[in-house]
Amino acid sequence: MKAAVIGLGNIGRVHRTLLEDMGHTVVVCDVLPERREGGYADWREMLAREHPDVVHVCTPHALHADMVAGCLAEGAHVLCEKPLCIRREEVARILQAERAAKGQLGVCLQNRYNPSSRAAKSLLTGKTIVSACAMHAWRRDAAYYAADAWRGTWRGEGGGVLINQALHTVDLMLWIAGMPQRLAAQTGQLALAQTIETEDTAMLRWTGEAVCTLYATTGCGADFAPVLLFALQDGTRVELAPDALRVNGADVPLRAPFPSCGKPCYGGSHRLLMEDFYRCIADGRRFSIDGKEGAKSVEVVLAAYESCGREIVV
Ligand SMILES: NC(=O)c1ccc[n+]([C@@H]2O[C@H](COP(=O)([O-])OP(=O)(O)OC[C@H]3O[C@@H](n4cnc5c(N)ncnc54)[C@H](O)[C@@H]3O)[C@@H](O)[C@H]2O)c1
Repeated sequence: MKAAVIGLGNIGRVHRTLLEDMGHTVVVCDVLPERREGGYADWREMLAREHPDVVHVCTPHALHADMVAGCLAEGAHVLCEKPLCIRREEVARILQAERAAKGQLGVCLQNRYNPSSRAAKSLLTGKTIVSACAMHAWRRDAAYYAADAWRGTWRGEGGGVLINQALHTVDLMLWIAGMPQRLAAQTGQLALAQTIETEDTAMLRWTGEAVCTLYATTGCGADFAPVLLFALQDGTRVELAPDALRVNGADVPLRAPFPSCGKPCYGGSHRLLMEDFYRCIADGRRFSIDGKEGAKSVEVVLAAYESCGREIVV
């Protein structure tokens, strides 16, 4: 198929490499000449001239909604990097564009494809989870935020650790333990107040199908593998990490994960997600992480920002 990648930064380069490995033709677009290397500067011109089958949106968060809706309207399939978007009105606009589109929309929440996540999902489907908690503690320093002007800003990133780094962990919690009905959150800056305007640390608690808590920070001294704990009604304790699944302390044997393409924190599952998305397109099947699925973590993060410590209905 003919694929287009918009945005050739950290993750766009991963998408391009994997697409080429998978044997697709790739056209590229970036506003920076040194990154596009002869490709397009303007994504609308690229669409009009190239008519790609699939467009990969790999740009800063604030640009996702216009690009996703615009590419769907032109008849392309779209794979959008997380988060799907950063505002509630954008969610509505994207879902409407998806409903009207010929093409499919997929959201790149690749950690759902980790062998450990898939095993946890199938183990826990149909079980009663009474309580779940997660910790996502990473280190992002001033140099990281200074490297790209959109990071750490409400306008460009739409938030901090919750809408960006910990979004994968929020998504896994929701996928496995269900959506909240009532949520309360506190967000703030514990370590990076001089560096970013958005939150570096957040604590969420919610009730829904289960009672859930989540702690996320980019103000940690080191990167720790995110961990999710699920307590079942029958007394079973399930612990999920990117490369491990433990039931009552015993390791569940897992298929080896794919090696990471790009930074280790991306994990190795971009390839699995992309192969599934392209298979769905070829077979005319619905891709599971569609606009509605991709919007769930965004909705929960936006509710957390609105909560300011109060319990609110989601
Ligand atoms: N799934 C994951 O694990 C994962 C990992 C990293 C990043 N991401 C997501 O991918 C997206 C990009 O992140 P990144 O770290 O690659 O950012 P980045 O800043 O490294 O790259 C963004 C690129 O988009 C380009 N760009 C900006 N405006 C553009 C426009 N109007 N048209 C074309 N190109 C434009 C920039 O020049 C830059 O090259 C974000 O949504 C981020 O959250 C996801």
